Amino acid sequence: MAAVAMVGCCSECNKKECGSETSCDKQAAVVDNIMTRRSIRDYKDEPVDREQMAKVLECGIYAPSAMNMQAWAVRVVDSKEFIDGVTAIAVAQNPKLKEQEGFRNLFRNAPTVAFIAIPEESYSGEFDSGLLAENMMLSAWSMGIGSCCLGSVIPVMNSEEAKPYLERLALPDGYKLMIAIAFGYPAEETPTAPARDASKAYYIE
Ligand SMILES: Cc1cc2nc3c(=O)[nH]c(=O)nc-3n(C[C@H](O)[C@H](O)[C@H](O)COP(=O)(O)O)c2cc1C
Repeated sequence: MAAVAMVGCCSECNKKECGSETSCDKQAAVVDNIMTRRSIRDYKDEPVDREQMAKVLECGIYAPSAMNMQAWAVRVVDSKEFIDGVTAIAVAQNPKLKEQEGFRNLFRNAPTVAFIAIPEESYSGEFDSGLLAENMMLSAWSMGIGSCCLGSVIPVMNSEEAKPYLERLALPDGYKLMIAIAFGYPAEETPTAPARDASKAYYIE
């Protein structure tokens, strides 16, 4: 069983002989961006610049999707009133949330949140939206914007109390929330990567 190894002609490329400085630089930038991205769980109060967020969204929708159906809907919220309102509901449901160190909001203190929804009946929506989300998070990281997937907020958003906020997202009929993603300028040092299990991916001869 051989793990998928990274063996390059230089420290920055993954080919035995790429023969191109430019190609090495491009690969190095992409690989570095992927490998250094971490989930950020504390943010500055300043919402993400909307022009930057527009680029992040564009990168998201250029992700591959099954038959290019783009079976997703994305809503971005940078309204403090919205974020604080959902937070108040979550705290009422679970007062222990407020005990978390530095707790300011339910979204890991993010000032900007993207809500991603998929059709209730879709064979590829979960996969497609995952690709969309990763494109968004990686493009954001390349611009100095941190992010964190937040599955934990979905039950709150789907609760009876949060109905007015869910309605404000104006999701298409038949869509359900899949994930929320916190975005913002990091207010913490980039964390160390949690351990990965390289034995999960290998060639079969
Ligand atoms: C579908 C999904 C749901 C997640 N939900 C949460 C969450 O509710 N809260 C949280 O702090 N992190 C959440 N995360 C972030 C993971 O904990 C994180 O990606 C993982 O520990 C690896 O760390 P890294 O992103 O820094 O590489 C979620 C990630 C994914 C992909």
